[in-house]
Amino acid sequence: MLAIIGGTGFTQMQEVEILAERSPYTALGEASTAVTEARLEGQEVLFLARHGHPHKLPPHKINYRANLLALQAAGATEILAVNAVGGIDPDLEPASLVLPDQVLDYTWGRESTYFDGDFLPLDHIDFSFPYSYEMRLRLLAAARRSGIALRDGGTYAATQGPRLETAAEIKRLARDGCTLVGMTGMPEAALARELNLPYASLSLVVNPAAGLREQEITLQEMQEALDQGMHQVRNLLRSYTGSR
Ligand code: HPA
Repeated sequence: MLAIIGGTGFTQMQEVEILAERSPYTALGEASTAVTEARLEGQEVLFLARHGHPHKLPPHKINYRANLLALQAAGATEILAVNAVGGIDPDLEPASLVLPDQVLDYTWGRESTYFDGDFLPLDHIDFSFPYSYEMRLRLLAAARRSGIALRDGGTYAATQGPRLETAAEIKRLARDGCTLVGMTGMPEAALARELNLPYASLSLVVNPAAGLREQEITLQEMQEALDQGMHQVRNLLRSYTGSR
């Protein structure tokens, strides 16, 4: 069953039949909120609001491990993450959608593995290609079918937050080859891999990253891009789910 993790601006499924609410309690603590089971385009899907509902948890306080365990316990077999991001590539207009194919992790102090010697014995996973190739192909096909522009590929920089970056930090991320910047992409992607759950991130650009222009970044412009772009995200989710 497909599980959707909704990010900022996406805390609830809309216009869907709700079938059940699943427990947020796991062996590693409480997930951000209960897992919702819903019917979307005739398919059963799971939904979890990453920051809780209403939006309350900052990125560094999210229990990513519990979130993925709760989804797996509810029957998830693949995870589609939705992430609001800043665009580092200057060609990325607000409200554009990107399907990253790589990630760089600048976060710190987050519980980032199940193989910590307590929950599970030490193990190492391959993470050369962090996002599921098959999911990415199917998402690109769904976007094409519905006439939604979706950029294929890019490197997601995961930063600690909750503050936005300095202009110098973004220059460094650009030198590192990053295309996008967000605060929640890691350790989520790695934890999904540890659980053997195919995972992809649908990233919605809500602002040009710090220092790309003269002005500062405002919450209002981010909100406007979210409002504009989430509509496309929801359409794409429908198209993707309908084709499964
Ligand atoms: N930086 C980090 N995270 C973000 C941004 C940003 O510019 N925009 C939305 N999430």
